[in-house]
Amino acid sequence: EMAEKAGYPHFMLKEIHEQPKAIRDAIHGNRGIISKVAEEIAGYDRVIFVAMGTSYHAALVGKYLFQRLAKRIPIVEEASEFRYEFEDLVDDGTLVIAITQSGETADTLAAMKLAKRKGAKVLAIVNVVGSMATRIADLTLYTHAGPEIGVAATKTYTTQLTVLTMLAIELARKLGTVDPEYLGELERGLELVPDLVEDVLTHEESLRELAEELKDKRDFFYIGRGAGFPTALEGALKLKEISYIHAEGLSAGELKHGPLALLEDGVPVVAINPSGKVFDKMVSNIEEARARGAMIISLSDREELSRVSDVLIKMPEVDELLSSIVYVVPLQILAYHLAVLRGNDPDKPRNLAKSVTVE
Ligand code: G6P
Repeated sequence: EMAEKAGYPHFMLKEIHEQPKAIRDAIHGNRGIISKVAEEIAGYDRVIFVAMGTSYHAALVGKYLFQRLAKRIPIVEEASEFRYEFEDLVDDGTLVIAITQSGETADTLAAMKLAKRKGAKVLAIVNVVGSMATRIADLTLYTHAGPEIGVAATKTYTTQLTVLTMLAIELARKLGTVDPEYLGELERGLELVPDLVEDVLTHEESLRELAEELKDKRDFFYIGRGAGFPTALEGALKLKEISYIHAEGLSAGELKHGPLALLEDGVPVVAINPSGKVFDKMVSNIEEARARGAMIISLSDREELSRVSDVLIKMPEVDELLSSIVYVVPLQILAYHLAVLRGNDPDKPRNLAKSVTVE
């Protein structure tokens, strides 16, 4: 087992570090096929994403990308709900995009089967080659992340986001919804994402030190807007899964509609705030939390955020449409070190399974 971990103490840490390569493989592995798949789905204006867990968060990023680039307004539904609520709402004019690392999650497979029965077109985004999801789907895109052993998804998530980005760009190109020059820029930006992730990984030691400081905290809040919102959800999920610390991911706009009541002195609020459309709005949300004594941990490329933050995790500059791939990485590392510092085995969290094959 030591050999398989390639010198890392846990599979999760190894898999976090494999992300630059995994993202490169996802890009190269899909380059030849993405245009054909985009062609096949371009005619569908009813798009429903179904997924569970971390893959559900990828679906939320997919929704954001489809909105911004392909000008589609997809629905994102937990696969476990889809079966019961969408039976009469799906037909042969519907495209269902199922996202599943394992390709074996029972709820997701059930949703896919229902969609097929109703005549919908089903596209699966899957990591495990030949898994059940690939057999049900009409079309499959692989994430090419390689085997993931740690229960908490890491490289399979960032590669799902990579594939979704490629698909949204290609759809936008086919539909003519966005300036093609900008699409080319985004494509070149995506090529550089592995290097940006590499750069983030070099800051692991400071994230471990931050984890030392945070290890006795009881509650964490993660806030974001736009594509930062799913990142907040995923950051909170990683923390819950492996450190067993209570964490909530929130849309920052919702803060003042309830969660602010929970903020006390020193409660960590992790704010995901890349440059982009909602940067200034996020600053106001951070100030709201700060005024209640929260400990603000900001992730941003903008130095000025240190004015309103206790800790600024300095991020590389990246287009906001690509930012979710890069910004989740420090959150994975933080959760990993918090788990280890609290004496947990991050590879085998209690009560959880890598793949949930019962509904
Ligand atoms: C389990 C795993 C999660 C994963 C979810 C969905 O709950 O512990 O890490 O995100 O299943 O899995 P899938 O294979 O469908 O992506």
